[in-house]
Amino acid sequence: MKTKLKAVTRKNSNPRALVAIPVQRAVPAKDRRLNFGDKWDYAPAPESVPVKIQPRYELFINGKFTAPTSGKYFESINPATEQKLSDIAAANAADVDVAVKSARRAYEKVWGKMSGRERGKYLYRIARIIQEKSRELAVLETMDGGKTIKESRDIDLPLVAAHFFYNAGWADKLKYAFPGRTPHPLGVAGQIIPWNFPLLMAAWKIAPALACGNTVVLKPAETTSITAMHLAQIFQEAGLPEGVVNIVTGAGETGTAIVNHPDINKIAFTGSTEVGKNIAKAIAGTGKKLTLELGGKAANIIFGDAPIDQAVEGIVSGIYFNQGHVCCAGSRLLVQEGVYSKVIKKLRDRIATLRVGNPLDKNTDIGAINSRMQLEKIRELVQSGVDEGAELVQPRCALPEKGYWYPPSFLTGVTASHRIAQEEIFGPVLSVMTFRTPEEAFERANNTPYGLSAGVWTDKGSKIFKMINKLRAGVVWANTFNKFDPTSPFGGYKESGFGREGGVQGLAAYCRLD
Ligand code: NAI
Ligand code: MG
Repeated sequence: MKTKLKAVTRKNSNPRALVAIPVQRAVPAKDRRLNFGDKWDYAPAPESVPVKIQPRYELFINGKFTAPTSGKYFESINPATEQKLSDIAAANAADVDVAVKSARRAYEKVWGKMSGRERGKYLYRIARIIQEKSRELAVLETMDGGKTIKESRDIDLPLVAAHFFYNAGWADKLKYAFPGRTPHPLGVAGQIIPWNFPLLMAAWKIAPALACGNTVVLKPAETTSITAMHLAQIFQEAGLPEGVVNIVTGAGETGTAIVNHPDINKIAFTGSTEVGKNIAKAIAGTGKKLTLELGGKAANIIFGDAPIDQAVEGIVSGIYFNQGHVCCAGSRLLVQEGVYSKVIKKLRDRIATLRVGNPLDKNTDIGAINSRMQLEKIRELVQSGVDEGAELVQPRCALPEKGYWYPPSFLTGVTASHRIAQEEIFGPVLSVMTFRTPEEAFERANNTPYGLSAGVWTDKGSKIFKMINKLRAGVVWANTFNKFDPTSPFGGYKESGFGREGGVQGLAAYCRLD
């Protein structure tokens, strides 16, 4: 069967906008492998590492798994099947208080006084155990969050271990990280993380905090808590002293209890700009240190002289990677006018070959959307783009009946004032715009409230440097996209947050320097 784009005019929308509507038909089991793209006939190849999911996960406080005082639990489901995986403890303010007290005790009695060399040994041990268990953790990450096994296995887990290794190396060398200064730990760090990279965000936050001598109270996101609890088991296995890391599960209320706790010295948050702004207001004047890593609306800029095939590959992985659930996703594409038709044609052909479906299948390119809420948000924002006059392009592909899915898509004819050009979509949808000169390119790229990342595609080094100096973004990738490394700092300008994570800068966020 040939993959075609079906152009139809949608009712109640701009009559000039041509819209390709996906066919969401049920696919008989025997035909599932022909489901997506229909270009190649791969047999299903599900990851077969056995994993043990507990029926219930308790809180991890003072080195032990303890029931929440409220006795309440909430479900965590697999977004690819909508099946329940486990019950997760809901921590209230009283539980958070016990966790903070345990972190304070551990800081004062053990961890804050321990030599960097000894702290480093624990971090190395944790990193090695993560490596040993990485296949199992990758499967759990994929089941609980919906991301493809290809990504959790080959990107998330190696980076999780790398962040522990990298920070372990600094633990006894902090005075060299900050020449001429004396670093001191801050005390207890409260850390709140999102659902797009559950274990990786835990590693980004826990590893530098511990390397610098702080103790931690961490809250994972409510849809993806399972791997954090397996990380807690690894801390036990590594013999990490009691109370050094405490993990409290729950939703926004649990997060608020951490933010407002008077005995916390530092808050690190990754998530939505809205919650980030509220956190900044809540802790203003309290003396708590703060780092915020919030949303993004990154522009990928393709100049006419760019290697187009390579650029299209980068654009595809920049937006469709992890279903677009990436704060630095390249969700806007700026194409120089001369190569516009060529790029659009290649992009359309390329997305027709992407496979959407079972995230545990090694051949899958696009997994499940993390939650029904997120799926609705994506649909609403795409509809607003169509209503405002953009043209939606989607390959004709059948999506599984159960679970939350969105096909890889892009919108052309987007203008800077459209919501789809301004708001974070956090889904596999690219907004395409054009430009003529480099000046127009960086002005358009900078024209959002965000400033987390950007990409430049050109054959000319001088153009890269010119753009880097003009782009108001924390990370600018040149002729590549979405590349991460523990040694390089990451963070935003404007409403994308402040402070940096990763590299020496990431350590500084967990130290007081005299
Ligand atoms: P969110 O900001 O509500 O959730 C992130 C974390 O903050 C979760 O652990 C959540 O439980 C916690 N939280 C929620 N309300 C809180 C509060 N009042 N105080 C303290 N902690 C609180 O994000 P959500 O609702 O999951 O996603 C909404 C949108 O945010 C997404 O569509 C996306 O655009 C953006 N987002 C950005 C992320 C990033 O990496 N920059 C990650 C997740 C979401
Ligand atoms: Mg889940």
